[in-house]
Amino acid sequence: MDKFLIEGGRRLEGSVEISGAKNAALPELAASLLTSEALRLSNVPRVHDISTMARLLAHMKVAVTLPPAPDAVVLRAGTVTSAEAPYELVKTMRASILVLGPLLARSGYARVSLPGGCAIGARPVDLHIKALEQMGAEITTAHGYIEAHAKKLHGAHIVFEKITVTGTENLLMAAALADGESVLENAAREPEIVDLAELLTKMGARIHFEKDDGTGPSVIRVHGVTSLHGAEHRVIPDRIEAGTMLVAGAITGGELALTHCEPRHLDAVIAKLIESGADIRPEGPGGLRVRGMQQPRPADVATEEYPGFPTDMQAQYMALATQASGASVLTETIFENRFLHASEMTRMGANIAIDGRRAVVRGPSRLMGAKVLASDLRASASLVLAGLVAEGETLIDRVYHIDRGYEGIEKKLCAVGARIRRMR
Ligand code: UD1
Repeated sequence: MDKFLIEGGRRLEGSVEISGAKNAALPELAASLLTSEALRLSNVPRVHDISTMARLLAHMKVAVTLPPAPDAVVLRAGTVTSAEAPYELVKTMRASILVLGPLLARSGYARVSLPGGCAIGARPVDLHIKALEQMGAEITTAHGYIEAHAKKLHGAHIVFEKITVTGTENLLMAAALADGESVLENAAREPEIVDLAELLTKMGARIHFEKDDGTGPSVIRVHGVTSLHGAEHRVIPDRIEAGTMLVAGAITGGELALTHCEPRHLDAVIAKLIESGADIRPEGPGGLRVRGMQQPRPADVATEEYPGFPTDMQAQYMALATQASGASVLTETIFENRFLHASEMTRMGANIAIDGRRAVVRGPSRLMGAKVLASDLRASASLVLAGLVAEGETLIDRVYHIDRGYEGIEKKLCAVGARIRRMR
């Protein structure tokens, strides 16, 4: 298992190119199941979760080809002969559940392994199932599998009890090919949802967003069509990778220019980092410049659905909070167990007290390099950030978590002055 050896204490300076968004590319790859024609996606990040989704689709006889452009994928689901997502693939990536909606809509049948819990919480998929049932699907779960049948899905008025990102994506794809109109209320409004809707619209879907001004529950109307066609689409930039790099610049007191990003998607993160003392400015189209501070200020953070502060940035923000002069209260409202990185940071010298969904981080702490264990994707990123400012060497084990979602993070950081060695 790969490890990262980080030599801390180096100021970062230079330019970092942001990759395409993993969490937008995943549902967009799954959308290939909705048409027999070719889908060409570009700006697809080369990360493990994408390879897993490609393998899953290939298992369903989708022809997946990688053209010479390093960030492009072409998918063609001529006929869907196998509608099964096996446990072996789903267990490594929960987002495999994203094939459920498209499979049902296109072929009337799907058998998808139930994703289990994961390190950060139970993460059930009950809302996906309930909503598909409202559209006429008959769904049973047995032997660890969801088995779903539907001669033809019909439109439905779905009110999500909780905002769910992949749930909204699954339903958006199912509704695109259903009979009649669907209304998705209390839907997620993350940029990845909007990007998926843009792709589906290019494929011939009829999707209309209401109340997408950030006020009130978001409502998406979908008029089902009888078939969808091929399309070309460029995946949006990864706002979480960009946010992680902003923290890297800030925490090391460095200066980084981020290119190929979408600053509009980072409003809540940028506002919080500015509150902490970082200087962040737009620089040309798709660019941001961050200048770190000598001494970060404490600031409280509560995670929320978009456009709030993303739960996927909470761990990275915690690393910065350990360096602030005072107490920061971090409240995690989305997942019940998303503070696993705190105990590893504590081992590096941080002062963090956890009380349920609240973490009180008292800084500034002199972090010291230590052997630490990555527990999930974003926790791993936060340990890399902590390692960048720690005295001495930090050895992070289980970096396969970070490889699931960051494209060559150690290479990008080393190119701007970090010392990180991948040890195999
Ligand atoms: C997606 C993102 C993940 C991010 C999360 C929250 C992808 C591939 N992953 O995950 O990076 O951290 O959004 O922004 O895009 N819930 C239920 N029942 C359901 C579905 C969800 O109770 O059927 C709960 C979850 O346990 C969680 C909350 O709803 O507490 C939000 O989860 P959800 O938005 O569904 O997260 P994911 O789509 O899995």
